[in-house]
Amino acid sequence: MSPFLCTFAAMNGKKKNRWTIIKGQELTEMDRIILAAQERGKEVPTRRLIKTPEQIEGIRRAGVVNTGILDMLTDKIHAGMTTLEIDDLVAEYTAAHGAKSACLGYEGFPKSCCTSVNEVVCHGIPNDWEVLEDGDIINVDCTTILDGYFADASRMYVVGGKTDAKRQKLVDVAWECLKIGEEVCSKPYVYVGDIGNAIQKHARKNGFSVVRDLAGHGTGLEFHEEPDVDHYGHKGTGMLLVPGMVFTIEPMINMGTYEVFCDEDDGWTVVTEDELPSAQWEHTFVMTEHGVEVLTH
Ligand code: MF3
Ligand code: CO
Ligand code: CO
Repeated sequence: MSPFLCTFAAMNGKKKNRWTIIKGQELTEMDRIILAAQERGKEVPTRRLIKTPEQIEGIRRAGVVNTGILDMLTDKIHAGMTTLEIDDLVAEYTAAHGAKSACLGYEGFPKSCCTSVNEVVCHGIPNDWEVLEDGDIINVDCTTILDGYFADASRMYVVGGKTDAKRQKLVDVAWECLKIGEEVCSKPYVYVGDIGNAIQKHARKNGFSVVRDLAGHGTGLEFHEEPDVDHYGHKGTGMLLVPGMVFTIEPMINMGTYEVFCDEDDGWTVVTEDELPSAQWEHTFVMTEHGVEVLTH
């Protein structure tokens, strides 16, 4: 092995973001805060992660189409339909609005959205054999590309409008977890770990668990960007969230164990280890000087 390769191998896992100042330009308030955090050994973003106002407008427009998809599904999801029919509706709406699905073809994913029913945590693949029944809880997760900008959101739908009390509570608590994450971000310069910590506390208080193997993520110019947004953890850990950053919060909340596995056959479907139900909601947010604003209403 060449000495170069050795060096690179040894450097794996030692990458760290560094906030750099623009030469000849006076430090802004934001520069000062980020540099101070960096000096204290905190994880900080790079300038690449800060979106311009124009980019944020583009992501906002992608968010409008994305929201339109999830709204459209509200009246369409019913007992007796297959998850493939949901995918058809998503594909049709997306195309009709001049957008593209980011899921379709992503790492070989074959459909335009993810449909995750009951014990499926996420990344369920729409298919023509899975028929929805009254009382099922289903997450539909869509990521929409418009003019090159990405917006990512998901919602829970209760088939037939009614389910049992426990599953309803799971759906409600998962929603509250997302709202709690949003509230933590009601001002800039919080840490990703602050979000996860608050979400985990709320889930636990309600007797539920938080999935650890999957996280929210930066988004906007690509499907998945830095940082990872864990939905558990300790305050003050993870990346500092500063104005101009665009990211998702998407807590996956389980009725039983937090442990999950991935279906060996399709390589995508994530299922709870104990096969008890799971629920998830997701929004894309932009951090501003006044806290986050949701881009996928
Ligand atoms: N939309 C999912 C997320 O929230 C990712 C789905 S990847 C896919 O990050 F390939 F399964 F679509
Ligand atoms: Co996402
Ligand atoms: Co998503």
